[in-house]
Amino acid sequence: MIATGGLIFVGTIQASVICAARDNEDLVIGTSLADMLVAGETVISRKQERIDDPKLGDKGLSGKALLEQTREIYRRATGVDPAAVDPASRHGRLLRAQMDAIVEVMDANQATINAKGTGFKGFIPAVFARLVDEAFARRAMGEAEVKITGPPDRIRNRKARPDTWETDVIKSKLLAPNWPRDQAYSAAVETGGRPAFRVMVPQYYDESCLACHGSPKGEVDITGYPKEGAKLNELGGVISIILYQ
Ligand code: HEC
Repeated sequence: MIATGGLIFVGTIQASVICAARDNEDLVIGTSLADMLVAGETVISRKQERIDDPKLGDKGLSGKALLEQTREIYRRATGVDPAAVDPASRHGRLLRAQMDAIVEVMDANQATINAKGTGFKGFIPAVFARLVDEAFARRAMGEAEVKITGPPDRIRNRKARPDTWETDVIKSKLLAPNWPRDQAYSAAVETGGRPAFRVMVPQYYDESCLACHGSPKGEVDITGYPKEGAKLNELGGVISIILYQ
């Protein structure tokens, strides 16, 4: 009896240790995918004026060129060279799928980006990110998903609407007054009938966002959407990552 009980006890500890190790690995993967997406958005943001210059043709932002700069920002932010992440690991595989998605999106949008005679082209970080997330989902084939969402009253594109779980995490965790800035929330939670590990990485409005999302509330911004009246440092969005087990 005692021996059996002991064995079960040991077994449970091992199972939970394995579980915790797996969750930890998934948290690393989730935040890494968020970091890569933000790095790509940062390049688009830095090049926005160039992209929207009506006099300039080729912007020098091919998939390859953009990925090069994105990897550099990721490397500086995380201290990890994405090329050094073992391609045989789940992390390496998904990170490469995401980098391939970045290249795909940029190459597919060269005609728009390089169009002469048009100023604002609508190719902004949020649109870039949504397209990358869609291309990534096709490549990750049901193994993982990345989506940008946010507080329900801040959503512009219906595709970005938070699901029930995301809505709850945003309200009860990320928007809580004592939630530490920049801290991600993660949990193992069944999603679409499948066991999954989910990570929610918060994003905050900085000055550059407020031209479109700021005040006066209701005024139409350059993209044609009414501004939300958002303020500096408020929670603007969330990168939501699902890793299916
Ligand atoms: C040039 C105007 C503009 C700027 C600047 C801008 N956004 Fe947006 N943002 C948009 C538009 C337009 C969309 C909808 C994109 C789409 O079609 O998916 C959007 C979408 C988003 C979304 C996705 C959810 C949704 O509503 O569809 C988030 C999150 C977001 N923006 C946050 C930010 C943050 C944070 C910044 C600053 C770092 C920022 N935005 C800067 C115009 C802008």
